[in-house]
Formats: sequence, structure tokens, C-alpha cells
Amino acid sequence: MDQSKTPLFDAMVSLAESRKVSFHTPGHKSGKGISTRFRKFVGPRVFSIDLTCLDEVDSLQKPRGVIKESQELAAAIYGADQSYFLVNGTSGGNQAMIVATLAPGEPVLVTRNVHKSVISGMIMTGCRPIFIPFRASHNASFPLNYGTADILASLEAHPDIRTLYLTSPNYYGVTVDLVRVAEAAHQRGVRVLVDEAHGPHLHFHPELPHSAMAAGIDLAVQSTHKIIGGMTQASMLHARSERIDIPRLSSVLRYLQTTSPSYILMASLDLARMQMATEGVKLLGRALELARWARIRIREIPGLKCANRTEIQALSSGENDLDETKLTIDVRGWGVTGYQVSQRLNLEFGIQVEMADIDHVLVIVSIGDHRGDLERLVFALRALSTENRPVSHRPPVPSMVFFDNLLRMTPRDAFFSPHETLPLEISSGRIAADIVTVYPPGVPLLLPGEEITDTVIETLSRFRESGATMDGLDMTNRLIAVVRE
Ligand SMILES: Cc1ncc(COP(=O)(O)O)c(C=O)c1O
Repeated sequence: MDQSKTPLFDAMVSLAESRKVSFHTPGHKSGKGISTRFRKFVGPRVFSIDLTCLDEVDSLQKPRGVIKESQELAAAIYGADQSYFLVNGTSGGNQAMIVATLAPGEPVLVTRNVHKSVISGMIMTGCRPIFIPFRASHNASFPLNYGTADILASLEAHPDIRTLYLTSPNYYGVTVDLVRVAEAAHQRGVRVLVDEAHGPHLHFHPELPHSAMAAGIDLAVQSTHKIIGGMTQASMLHARSERIDIPRLSSVLRYLQTTSPSYILMASLDLARMQMATEGVKLLGRALELARWARIRIREIPGLKCANRTEIQALSSGENDLDETKLTIDVRGWGVTGYQVSQRLNLEFGIQVEMADIDHVLVIVSIGDHRGDLERLVFALRALSTENRPVSHRPPVPSMVFFDNLLRMTPRDAFFSPHETLPLEISSGRIAADIVTVYPPGVPLLLPGEEITDTVIETLSRFRESGATMDGLDMTNRLIAVVRE
């Protein structure tokens, strides 16, 4: 297929240029009714392609024309039997993957480092998660991903399982060995679903870890908007038909997605795919080069750590790999928190990072960065290092904490049970009724259905006191929803 084609975008442009009179939504009518301030800032043209389902530009709910063609081009390049454009991010994709594949009460083997949208999908469907035990590497300066041996041991221990759900890469760019996992799972008749929110680019450069689709995964969702050229909210879902019921998945997406999808978001997916297919190697090669340049310099700054690919491979005994475009900078050696460094980078140097947690700041280097941006980051960190004299490393505070074996009810049963709220400090022994996360990374510390233990209370309190943004407690961060006894 000719990957330089952009059928949806072309049809949108030609419809906009035809200047037809519109008696349909959106009500701003090609921008004529939009607020003047908005139009002055962004210019008039963007409104002319803010379209709705019309014959010329097809319908996402039932694609037969240019959206179908654009999705087919995406499927061809990613090696899928069917690809879908998503307008509610990977959050919507995770929910659709679960609702389309798992029945109420059905067990699913899943890693505990999932995004909260996976848990909300479980609440929708009522499936029963079985979490794979996680063995944290104590020598790693940030959370690695699950090891192959642990995933395979869990598959062995649960021969009744038909679905395995993984997150790869994790927020820090650490991937699972999907090739080995897919092979082993498929031999047992298990299908593998992957949240690849942070990996839409992996498919397009040989020096990046394997992408989910290249590894033979059955269903993978990616946030095109996070790393490559999609606009915010624009994601893609890729499916292989051997173990996935494609008509059912299409129905579920029709149920869960809006009937008024943004054409601007969908066009950005069409163009992002074209850009990666035609120039991906060059653009990602430059991003990798910039990230490598910066990593070397950051590692030279006294007190900072920034693990490289070889170190991650060694720490995980070759079971994990690293996407080098993610720079996770460990600031413990400065005796400060990642939140403090992130704030100073922002206020004093005009640098905004992707995420901070207690021990780290996380920097995403992408196809949009230039050498000057990375030079500015290195300059700022060097400047901060002169006042933060290296101190001996304090013990790490993991930003993804997984409590094993605390699930007492399915997330759905807990969510739909009568609730009450209690001060966190006196909730020990009760069952959580809501998802509690630190955002980002948005990985739940506590799920509906899990028991709140003293360790959970202590951990949540520690995050709260460190200034983390908590999601799932009340506005004061003091009260927690529990299942009424
Ligand atoms: C691993 C993971 N999955 C899913 C999501 C949600 O993606 P989106 O923001 O595209 O809905 C995120 C967001 O941070 C994430 O980190």
C-alpha cells in the first residue's frame, strides 16, 4: 500500500475547500460562529476542518470510505488485521479491549502496573483480575517492568486463563520481552493484550525495543498523541483476528466511543501514520541521538543518575529493555524530591517535564525536539547541581507500589456495593471502593475490592505528605471511600 497517502485528511481538505453551505453540526459552522478571541489566536482554517460525519469524510461509527481506507493503511504498516482510530485516548482503548474480550466473572491474568483505565474496564465488564506477582529489582533506580520468567510462571500456575493483559513499555520506557511471552502464551491458547500507550513509535526504528505488533501480540493500544504526531486524545488500536473477535470489538468501540468524533483528531492519526511510515527512521533516529547525547551529559552531573539501556538489560537479566527516548533522572543524590526539581526547572528555567515523582523527573525526547532544547535541560540541571551538593543516596521511594494478594472482591462488586467514607487513618481492614492513584503515572496504588492494610495507609500517607497529586481520595486527601460493612 502507498503509505504516503492520507485519504481522510485529503477528503477533509477538499470538503473544506468546496465551501458548501452547512446546515449541520458543529454549530460554529466552519468557524463563522466561533468566539473571535479563539479564531484570532488559532486562525480560521482549523475550524473549516472541524467536521462531522458526512458522505465525503465517512463515519467512524461505520467506516466505509476514507476513514476505512486510512485505518487500513495503519493496519498494513503495523501488521494488524484491523486498526481503529480512537478519539478518547488509550484510556478508551483499554476499556474497549476488556469489554470486548472478557465476560463477567471471567479470570484475566494481569500485571499490577496497569493504568487506571484498565481497572475501569474491569468495573464495566465484571471480569476477575488475577495479578502476576511483581519482583522489584532493588538495584534499579526506577521501576522496571515484569520479567518473562514471572509472567510465564503465572501462566503455568493458572491453566484456565485465556487472556493475559500487559503494559509495555511502562511509563519509564521499560518493555517486557513480548516476543517470548506471546510465543509461550499462544502455545497455551492464551491471547495477549498490551497497553502500549507509550510505544506508538517503537515499530518504526530498529534501535528501539520490539513493538507489540512486531512481537505477535493479539491486541495493542497506543497513545499516538503521547510520543508521535497525534493530537491529544488521538490513539490507535490494532487487532489480529486469530484470537480476537473483530466484529465484537468493532461493536464495543461503537458503544464506548462518542458518535461525534473529532475529525481533527482523526486526521492527526492519518498524518502521524504517514509521517512514521515515510520518515520514521530518520525522525526517530534524530530523537534517539538527542536523547543519547543528553543522557551522557546528565550522567556526568554530580548526584544524578540516569540509567541507560545496557544497565536496564543487565538489571533485569535481559528480561526487560529500554526505550532510550525516555530519560528517567534519579535526583535522590541531591537530597531533594523529583517534585522540587520539576518545579524549579519550570519556574526558573522554563522547562516542563513529563512527570515527577518522589525520586525522579521523567523527560520524554521525541521527534519534536531540537538540540537546543536538550542543551537547555542539561544547562539547567548543571546549574541546579551547583547548589545541590551530592548527598548519600536515601533509600528509594517507589513510584509504583504494588500490594500483592489484597483483592477480596472483584473491582466491579466493590464499586457497586454501598459505600461510606472514612478518614484514611482509621480505614485499616476495610475494602476500598474506589481507584486510588498518584497521577502521573496513574497506576493504581489501591483498587476497588482490595483490603486497606496498615502498609497501604502508611504508603498513601507518605505520598500525600510528599506533595504528590492523589486521585481517588476526597478533595482534602483525608477521606477514602470504602465498602459499607
Ligand atoms: C500505561 C498507560 N496506559 C494508558 C494511559 C492512558 O492514555 P491516554 O492518556 O491516551 O488515555 C496512560 C496515560 O498516562 C498510561 O501511562
